[in-house]
Amino acid sequence: MDKFIIQGGARLAGEVVVSGAKNAALALMPATLLAAGNYKLSNVPRLRDIQTMTTLLRSIGVEITRANGVLTINSFGVSKHEAPYAHVKKMRASIYVLGPLVARYGRAKVSLPGGCAWGPRPVDLHIESLRKLGASIELKRGYILAEADRLKGARIRFEVSSVGATGNALMAAVLAKGTTVIENAAVEPEITALALFLESMGARIGGTGTNRLEIEGVDELSAADAAMIPDRIEAGTFLTAAAVTGGNLTLRNTIPGHLAAVTDKLREAGCVVRTENDCITLSAPETLQPVDVTTAIYPGFPTDMQAQWIALMLNAKGSSVVTDAIYLDRFKHVPELARLGADIRIRNNTALVRGGKPLTGTTVMSTDLRASASLIIAGLIAEGTTEVLRVYHIDRGYEAIETKLAALGAHIERTRSDEF
Ligand code: EPZ
Repeated sequence: MDKFIIQGGARLAGEVVVSGAKNAALALMPATLLAAGNYKLSNVPRLRDIQTMTTLLRSIGVEITRANGVLTINSFGVSKHEAPYAHVKKMRASIYVLGPLVARYGRAKVSLPGGCAWGPRPVDLHIESLRKLGASIELKRGYILAEADRLKGARIRFEVSSVGATGNALMAAVLAKGTTVIENAAVEPEITALALFLESMGARIGGTGTNRLEIEGVDELSAADAAMIPDRIEAGTFLTAAAVTGGNLTLRNTIPGHLAAVTDKLREAGCVVRTENDCITLSAPETLQPVDVTTAIYPGFPTDMQAQWIALMLNAKGSSVVTDAIYLDRFKHVPELARLGADIRIRNNTALVRGGKPLTGTTVMSTDLRASASLIIAGLIAEGTTEVLRVYHIDRGYEAIETKLAALGAHIERTRSDEF
């Protein structure tokens, strides 16, 4: 397993091109199951999660090749309708094949995702949506068995805003007979990107970009091409990495509006942040101000930036309160940050971060994707050497992060580790 070795103390400066959005690609790739055809998805980042989705779709019969960030997908040969546990346990987003398989082929056998590094992360909303659309669903030996002759339009109202369940319901509804209304739909940019892609395939969707979607089911769709939107979480991660070191950064290939909640908070912390077209620039202050954050659904402060924000606040002059209102126990990074000397107290879904305490490098363990990012950010300011183990977690969601950070002046290298 690889690890990162980081020497703290460098002030980051320079320019980074943001990669395509992981969570857009993970939604659009399974959407190609909805119509046999040839698709080109471009600006797809080279990530473990994309590889996992590729392997899963290939196991179903989809042909996928990759060249220069473009996936060429041929979904004529779909012959299976199953997402086995082996795939789903590696990546929860595998459940995105459920809606398309039931909608197009009338059946699906998808493993329940099981737990993840933090919390149970249920899929009840996915299952309920398909039931409302007329699928018969049985949960058997850890699998979701779904069947439907033809899905029928229905009114779906999510009690909890869910990115994944909205995506699955949307991909099921576009081929259902009749009209479906999805209320309290997720409005994350990745879901809007999915809706736009489905529209380009011939789906009839009203309310795209809002939390009320109205879908007029059609009998069939056709293949289309799409370019992935920029990854707003990668962008936010690099901004916090530059800010924590007192540095400055130019980000290219961004949609600034997709991370306005993050840039607003960075300004509150004292950073000068400017946006122009697809570019965001940040110049950090000598001393960061402590800023409280509570995560929320889009366009609020993203839960996927919570861990990175805690790492940033370790270098602020004073205490801050970071609350995760989406995942109530997404704090596996905190005990590892404490090994670097961080003073963070957790009470329920809130972290009290005492900033300004010097950090000292040591060995820390990644537990999940965004937790790893927070360990790297803290390592950038810890005195001495920080070793971050199990960086396969970070490789799930960040393309060549050490190369991009090194280009900004960070002292970071990847080496092999016999640590399991
Ligand atoms: C998506 O996960 C993202 N993943 C996550 O990003 C992100 O953290 C999350 O949305 C929230 O923004 C992808 O897009 C592939 P949810 P998802 O359903 O769809 C509860 C990353 O770092 N819920 O919006 O699984 C759930 O427990 C990953 O890139 C149910 O109760 O998240 C949570 O409290 C990590 N029942 C809330 O909804 C369900 O059936 C939001 O979860 C589904 C969800």
